[in-house]
Amino acid sequence: MSISEIAKSIHASPTLALNEKAAILREKGDPVIHLGGGEPKSRTPVDAILATTGILNSGEIRYTPADGIPALKKAVIRYTDEFYDRLVAPENVLASGGAKQAIMVALQTVLNPQEELIYPAPYWVSYPDMAKLCGAIGIPVLPEDGTFYPRLSDIEQRVGSYTKAVLINSPNNPSGAMYSEEFISDIVQFCERRDLYLIMDDIYHRLIFDGRKRLNPFDYTNKPIDESKMIVVNGVSKQYAMTGYRIGWAVGNRKLIETMANIQGHQTSGPSVLLQKAAVGALNGIQSGVENLRATLENNRNVMMDQLNSFEGVKVTKPDGTFYCFADFSVYEKDSNKLSEFLIDKVQVLTVPGAEFGVDGYLRLSYCGAVKDITDGIERMKWALDPNSPNELYIGDRKLVRDWT
Ligand SMILES: Cc1ncc(COP(=O)(O)O)c(C=O)c1O
Repeated sequence: MSISEIAKSIHASPTLALNEKAAILREKGDPVIHLGGGEPKSRTPVDAILATTGILNSGEIRYTPADGIPALKKAVIRYTDEFYDRLVAPENVLASGGAKQAIMVALQTVLNPQEELIYPAPYWVSYPDMAKLCGAIGIPVLPEDGTFYPRLSDIEQRVGSYTKAVLINSPNNPSGAMYSEEFISDIVQFCERRDLYLIMDDIYHRLIFDGRKRLNPFDYTNKPIDESKMIVVNGVSKQYAMTGYRIGWAVGNRKLIETMANIQGHQTSGPSVLLQKAAVGALNGIQSGVENLRATLENNRNVMMDQLNSFEGVKVTKPDGTFYCFADFSVYEKDSNKLSEFLIDKVQVLTVPGAEFGVDGYLRLSYCGAVKDITDGIERMKWALDPNSPNELYIGDRKLVRDWT
């Protein structure tokens, strides 16, 4: 069978594959602990549910404009005013099938084949394949100082004549690092000076801890939005725990947004009206759920840090936000794929290998689930990896016996 060169270069999303693996093992009755998840467990906000049932009951479920329904654009305009202090027009807003699609169509809009997209490492698993889907080249940049907090000099060194765009995700999946104000300000101004597109993947921007101040990239530019090459992406998936609704959006200059809408119009058309209405409900409704989720995640982060700090040999930087941490397990195994396989096989704990995020020797561990999953999961991992562990471990009435050293 002959498939295209681009198609051949695309890998399955490792995080989606892991979710499937966990579901299959659970169906078999295995006591899986999923520390690889990428979605909060809180319920959909009630205002989102009511908005969906309203339109569902009308029995009139039709196509929507390719760039989104006016009510969602209006809600995004209000959101942008509140959180980014920018008054934008409906023509500056595109509603998409998740932040994922918003990023994808932004990249398809700006990247020519062979051009380069720069992003700091560790990076979200989809960025390299998204660049490949455009025939372009993803360039990960690992901060030189050994932290996961990039500085402008890290990026600057990699910018060349093929560089077209920079993609920044802060707070970051997988490290939980919220990049410094200095870096955000520097990167906005640098991209303007060098005439580069800057895509800000802000999907976790409200899920931050320890009283940190949210950073707003628009604070560091004087350009009117229609002269700017910055595109800000956001969505309802994480902050409202609405991953299954698949609604995200992009805010940017109207020429870009128009082109993004043209592309989306041929890909999927506008997102489902049901789901857009749900997003409107969430954005315009009672907001206490977001703060509850944020506070729960901060508590879970603290539990995860306590567990990992007492894990002999494991090194981890305390996350500033998100619901992930990225821990260095290289003292046990340098090949993170092997280690992740070992942990699922031996103690049914699901983790995501660091290699998928561009840094081997690490595992991404999520704390978006129950506290008990965090404590039990790390307990099992310690048992599996510490050679001085007792020979047996009970999981419920199941007895595990160490048959490895
Ligand atoms: C950094 C980052 N960007 C974008 C997305 C996609 O979000 P959505 O569900 O809105 O497509 C995710 C989801 O895991 C993510 O971690």
